[in-house]
Amino acid sequence: MAEELAIDGGVPVRSDRLPFFKVTYGYPELRGVIDVFESGVFGSVYPDAHKVLEFEAAFAEFAGTRHAVAFSSGTTAQHASLVAAGVGPGDEVIVPPLTFSSTAYTVLLAGATPVFADVDDVTICLDPARVESAVTPRTRAVVPVHWFGYPVEMDELMSVSGAHGLTVIEDCAHAYGTVYRGRKAGTIGAMACWSLQQSKVLTAAGEGGVLTTDDDGLAAVARSVCDHGKDKGPGAALDGYEIVRVGNNYRLTEMQAAFALAQLQRVDEMLAARRAHLGYMVEGLRGVEGLRLVEGDLPRPDIEVGPSYLPVRFDEVAFTAPLDRLSDALDAEGVQNVRIADDEFGPSHPLFREMSPPADLPIAERVRRELTLLPLYPDMTGADLDDVVAAVRKVAAGYAL
Ligand SMILES: Cc1ncc(COP(=O)(O)O)c(C=O)c1O
Repeated sequence: MAEELAIDGGVPVRSDRLPFFKVTYGYPELRGVIDVFESGVFGSVYPDAHKVLEFEAAFAEFAGTRHAVAFSSGTTAQHASLVAAGVGPGDEVIVPPLTFSSTAYTVLLAGATPVFADVDDVTICLDPARVESAVTPRTRAVVPVHWFGYPVEMDELMSVSGAHGLTVIEDCAHAYGTVYRGRKAGTIGAMACWSLQQSKVLTAAGEGGVLTTDDDGLAAVARSVCDHGKDKGPGAALDGYEIVRVGNNYRLTEMQAAFALAQLQRVDEMLAARRAHLGYMVEGLRGVEGLRLVEGDLPRPDIEVGPSYLPVRFDEVAFTAPLDRLSDALDAEGVQNVRIADDEFGPSHPLFREMSPPADLPIAERVRRELTLLPLYPDMTGADLDDVVAAVRKVAAGYAL
């Protein structure tokens, strides 16, 4: 007999609720913010401002690229990357259906059309073969999202993109620490965009983003879009004010950069903790009938996951209840979890139903019906990890066919 579930009146695995994410921060972040406070220089455009510059230099080193341009969000970095790629009206950009909506709507902001291509059943990221089928004479770029730190099959994607002359812009919002066949995620395509929003591996005190690239020309356009369209090309005066394109004010502030710089200084430690926690929970969840772990499906020595959350799939034909109920049951056991459901499935949004061509997406549809995200962050204790494993095991047993 399965144990009585908390959702049915049984005793929960834990009496409080384990939060879905928690920022790791402390005195170094506070010190950075106080330094800016005391300096009285808050905006990055002033000659004596230096925190954004310092952060950009440190981020470029972390990412392994020549350039890192700080932005106000991952979304604004994404928009700038599309402009830098020359994407405009009449163009199409291939994106995965499973991702945060900005990956697709920034294509609309750039005046082009987002085209959804289906994901791979194992990586749950863009399937390069489906990308190839979605290419038309109008396709200009593709945005592979390394979802939850699991890398897209980049060798195949680069060969499809190369064959069709597409610019590859990696979405690294979740890919801190992800390595694909010896190369860091974000160094494989022409550009990469990162998010520093609060729920990500690093944060700039709530919001922020970065665009990385090795290409001087792309970096100059990205800087220009970030700062009102001012000329940032070779030979342009550093304090120049010539407007050469439609840009915006997408700048990060000095205080945010100071916070993010302190976060960056602890990133290796945070990633090591995340990896250890992920490994522990994956081990604990192995062998649960009907449960699919992306990590467990990928015994791949040639990749290293940069974990953002722990995605788990409850096989839709293996349980007596739909995902909604399983997810609520986990919550009742005290483990907050987030279903992808409609929010992160592009075609469920009215905007994309109207503005992007219909697409056949059977795998993404299925993942959407099966996937929920479990907590994963450095400050989880051993007891927290055990509770996540116990709650999933208990719920899976409670609804086993
Ligand atoms: C995959 C993905 N891409 C892009 C973004 C956008 O980043 P931001 O929230 O910093 O604008 C997010 C953030 O939620 C994301 O998850």
